[in-house]
Amino acid sequence: MIVAIDGPAASGKGTLARRLAAHYGLAHLDSGLLYRAVAHHVSARGGDLHDPSVATEAARALDAATLGDPALRGRHAGEGASIVSAYSGVRAALLDFQRQFAATPPGAVIDGRDIGTVICPQAEVKIFVTASAEERARRRALELTTRGEPVDQAAILDDIRRRDERDMNRSVAPLKAAEDAVTLDTTNLDAEAAFRAALAIVEARAGERRRA
Ligand code: DC
Repeated sequence: MIVAIDGPAASGKGTLARRLAAHYGLAHLDSGLLYRAVAHHVSARGGDLHDPSVATEAARALDAATLGDPALRGRHAGEGASIVSAYSGVRAALLDFQRQFAATPPGAVIDGRDIGTVICPQAEVKIFVTASAEERARRRALELTTRGEPVDQAAILDDIRRRDERDMNRSVAPLKAAEDAVTLDTTNLDAEAAFRAALAIVEARAGERRRA
């Protein structure tokens, strides 16, 4: 089974994807890490994130073994990822890795922006996870506070809005729900309720497929 979970920054899709993967015994891929790794690779070598050829070269040379690097989780890598992910060369270079990951038995839960639309249009289940920008900023601030990091709520909200704008309006693989995706708005749901709602979506889809 392939489960595609797409949605905007800080929507909670990563947590949901991880929990669904554990529940069904599937592999999990956070595809945002691929773009974060490309941006990190370019920046660490003093390269220009605004040069598509430099970023494309980094994407072609990407070593999946580096995806566990904690530096990729930071705000800087996320912002850089949002820039390099708009380049068609970068996206093309990362396509095969994601499709092979999905095709490896027993299947996978992959979260990102274009999993249901471009990477795995054949996914059995597609969920588009969303929440208001204010609620996403509140959750991100809470996460940073828990880690003991300084928090500027207004800057976080600006950051989220800028990322949304860039991710939704780029010409290649923009963030949008696939036509056959189920939208899950988690604005008023806590993590547990969101997980239960996602499970219900997967079960309903699996049931439909069994009956078809
Ligand atoms: O999910 P994330 O915050 O780690 O993603 C970082 C950036 O990477 C995001 O702003 C857009 C890009 N991205 C993408 O274009 N396609 C994906 N499948 C995943 C992430």
